[in-house]
Amino acid sequence: MEEFLSGLRELEEAGTAAIRSASAPEELERVRVEYLGRKARLTQMLRSVRELPHEQRRSAGAEANRIKRCLLELVEARAAELKAAAAEPTAEIDPTLPGRSRWRGARHPCTLVIDEICDIFKELGFSRARGPEAETTWYNFTALNTPLDHPAADEQDTFYLGDDILLRTHTSPVQARVMEGSRPPVRIVVPGVAYRRDPFDASHAPAFEQIEGLAVDEGISFVDFKASISYFVHRFFGEDTATRFRPSFFPFTEPSAEVDVSCVLCRGEGCSACKGTGWIEIMGAGMVDPAVFENVGYDSERYTGFAFGMGVGRIAMLRYQIPDIRLLYDGDVRFLQQFEHA
Ligand code: PHE
Repeated sequence: MEEFLSGLRELEEAGTAAIRSASAPEELERVRVEYLGRKARLTQMLRSVRELPHEQRRSAGAEANRIKRCLLELVEARAAELKAAAAEPTAEIDPTLPGRSRWRGARHPCTLVIDEICDIFKELGFSRARGPEAETTWYNFTALNTPLDHPAADEQDTFYLGDDILLRTHTSPVQARVMEGSRPPVRIVVPGVAYRRDPFDASHAPAFEQIEGLAVDEGISFVDFKASISYFVHRFFGEDTATRFRPSFFPFTEPSAEVDVSCVLCRGEGCSACKGTGWIEIMGAGMVDPAVFENVGYDSERYTGFAFGMGVGRIAMLRYQIPDIRLLYDGDVRFLQQFEHA
């Protein structure tokens, strides 16, 4: 009898410890079978109670059953604990820490400037157009009244892809394409990349964004041209920015002008950005040359219009005070993500 009871107590201790330390449902099941299964020592001892002397059976059986119930309850309690732990986040995650915000990306400063310029011209009735970057000499030069012996057409300045195909040197060929495909009135802005054999330095990039503009209709005058450009300058750079039209030359405009704005940094006083002049050039422009109208099949006696083209990188540099154009094209995310605050 003593032996029987001490055997039971050992089982109780060992079983309790094994159940408490089971760390997964499968392990707990193994422990349950070991201590409470059909072939378990405790089950055998319960069966052997009837072989004990008659007067001892009752208390021995009661003790064995008590231990069985105890162990069963422990198994159930431990199973519930393990189930709850599985539903909780693991210890490595600290749910009290603030969330890590997701990096959303940002629009490139050139894209921001393009969108802003297009939005301003939209107020004047201009819509967006696009054209191919691999262009024919016809659209890039000839249709735009630029003979192929013009210095701009020289291989020194232009990337040729074949005899007649090149990487467009400006966005102006889209003017000719759009006019060919539609009747006046035309009012378009054309953002896009252009290519020139320029050195990659602080103010030049061999691939760079431009934005072109074209308005054609009956009765468009130089006044409309100046008024539209001045409106844009005021909306983009601020009401107190002055605009200056300087005579210039482009084969596809007559008369032609370079448009300057009063320096946005020194307000016209003279600084290093404007090289002491108080003015910064922002675009080439002019009244569309009648020869261009004839090339695209428009009646040059009936229609007039104006066109302009500006370097987007240059405008972005002015807007965000970026000192070197290469920063726009290095692809350094730390630089690029500072301009748009989402
Ligand atoms: N295409 C010219 C350039 O790239 C700019 C321009 C466009 C000038 C339209 C006049 C009219 O320099």
